[in-house]
Amino acid sequence: DLDIRSKNFSGKRVLLRVDFNVPVDEATGAVTDSSRVKAVLPTIQLLLNQNARVILVSHFGRPEPKKQSRQQMQAMYSLRPVAALLEAELGSCAFRGLADDCIGSEAAAAVAQLQPGQALLLENTRFHEGDAGSSPDFARDLAALCDVFVNDAFGVVHRDQGSVTGITWFVPSCYPGPLIRRELTELADRLYDPVRPLGVALGGAKVADKIGVIAALVELADVVAVGGRMAFTLLAAKGVSVGSTQIEEGWLEPCRRMMTRAAERGTRLLLPSDVLWSSSLSRPECLDTRGVAPLTLDCCTPDRPCIPAGRYGVDIGPETMATFRQELLCCRTIFWNGPMGKFEVPEFAAGTVAIAGTLDEASKRGAVTIIGGGDSVAAVTAAGLAEHISHISTGGGATLELIEGKGMPGLRALLRPGSGGDVGRG
Ligand code: 3PG
Repeated sequence: DLDIRSKNFSGKRVLLRVDFNVPVDEATGAVTDSSRVKAVLPTIQLLLNQNARVILVSHFGRPEPKKQSRQQMQAMYSLRPVAALLEAELGSCAFRGLADDCIGSEAAAAVAQLQPGQALLLENTRFHEGDAGSSPDFARDLAALCDVFVNDAFGVVHRDQGSVTGITWFVPSCYPGPLIRRELTELADRLYDPVRPLGVALGGAKVADKIGVIAALVELADVVAVGGRMAFTLLAAKGVSVGSTQIEEGWLEPCRRMMTRAAERGTRLLLPSDVLWSSSLSRPECLDTRGVAPLTLDCCTPDRPCIPAGRYGVDIGPETMATFRQELLCCRTIFWNGPMGKFEVPEFAAGTVAIAGTLDEASKRGAVTIIGGGDSVAAVTAAGLAEHISHISTGGGATLELIEGKGMPGLRALLRPGSGGDVGRG
């Protein structure tokens, strides 16, 4: 039985791997989106209620211990902002603060002072090369701090790293946490065995990052609506001239094959029929919207290009927003990942906000709605539309790799026969 809700870890030192890789405002140092922290609070509370000694462990950002000094990493990548949030959430009796290191004598001394029913946070695991580098020495040192390892960091289950997989070789009792279990049910079950029609809205910058997941969703979904910068590579693959918008030449051929596959399977693969362009990517300059349909070469002659040279496609246009909305509202399950445009510039955010609004509307009409990935989550939260969404995933890359069907080393490590005394076998 791997469910920690049926365990009693009273008095035990439980090392809880969490994903506190949250956005922080550089000027104020405050956490700007606390959803990852809030999502794991019930697990922390559960362990505190069991009278466990809870040792919270996370990475934060991508420090470079080979290149950066400890002070530099500390200045840029400390978990201090998260510690402040935890203190506000748990209170200073239960939460004993941040230890300056995650291994070694300082960490051991902090853990030794922890009483049953108390938690502490250890400093960023990636200050040590051995975490991302998956060194057994690092994993052994981390494991020495605890009796039980619980991984509830869904956002890193696709990583083969010391604090995710390595540690399981050295701790006799390893478990997945409730958040990971819920993510698997919500994502895998609802997308692989969906209430149909299944609609998907996909955005983001790079085809290279998403082609696997688009291809997987073309096989699963009934409707796949693609926006974001990557849509311009798909448009270019259909012969549309996209001005100065950066496309990925190397992916044009795979994109064409994927579109052919969608047509063969009967998946409705929707591309923008109109786009917003600007002469600057960072400011709304010379804004204009123009249709790119019909998606044939003849709409894009050199004297009548769809997007003129010197202009960048920055968002989907109003006609596309309306089509995507209409198609998605006919679906009973909707998954959304990735912004539709360069939404960090407010004038280029309308397409992304429209998708957030569509998911909100669909949720209220009873559809199952799932959002995965940091930017889409930030957009729906900023628009105040998160409340009715069925599931907001805490994973970024992990969510996409799960959908793509890639291996999840962080999960496999928990189930590996021989990795621990009472680790499950199924
Ligand atoms: C994420 O933000 O997706 C996770 O925290 C993983 O972070 P990483 O991509 O730096 O490993």
